[in-house]
Amino acid sequence: MTQRVAILISGGGSNMAGLARSMTGDHPARCVLVLSNVPGAGGLAKAAALGLPTATLDHKAFPDRPSFEAALHQTLTEVRPDLICLAGFMRILTPAFVGKWPGRILNIHPSLLPRYPGLHTHARALAAGDSHHGATVHEVTADLDDGPVLGQIRMPIEPGDTPDTLAARLLPLEHQLYPAVLRRIVTGQRARLDLSTEDVPR
Ligand code: GAR
Repeated sequence: MTQRVAILISGGGSNMAGLARSMTGDHPARCVLVLSNVPGAGGLAKAAALGLPTATLDHKAFPDRPSFEAALHQTLTEVRPDLICLAGFMRILTPAFVGKWPGRILNIHPSLLPRYPGLHTHARALAAGDSHHGATVHEVTADLDDGPVLGQIRMPIEPGDTPDTLAARLLPLEHQLYPAVLRRIVTGQRARLDLSTEDVPR
């Protein structure tokens, strides 16, 4: 049976678009909703252009986090998702919310977790003198950026890299990783996927 995927965004939505475009043809899942907590987020227009249903829940319009999350839960419940993909969704979800969707929320994070949970991951990888950087898709659990890793993609850090060059080089790799992991999850494969730009001879 076709699996139903909701995608939560806050920004440009390039990962959302990559996921949504992957869920066509013989793919066993379909995107049933793109929801943004930021009104006018660029990803909403991208989703509409792809013919996807969209919703906005402005977290600033709610008095507190529990009331925002109650509305989020209600909106999601209405579309009956099997999976919820966070794709540049920049709100922390409480353990109470995550507990309502156990094992069913995925996130992409721009670092090689467990290195650099939280923000400013590119700058932190540079400051640490790391040789490699990358992105991780993981299951969302009660602790921030801490759930089981489902997939990672690695790339070398080059001399002269800045946070901006790292971010620009990593984003297209995120677009490879997230759809690949999603396809595995919806076909019942939870074993970790490891990709590297260094696997392909240059
Ligand atoms: C991506 O780089 C994603 O990994 C990151 O935000 C960007 C969203 O870009 N997510 C986080 O930092 C989550 N903590 P997009 O809107 O173009 O997909």
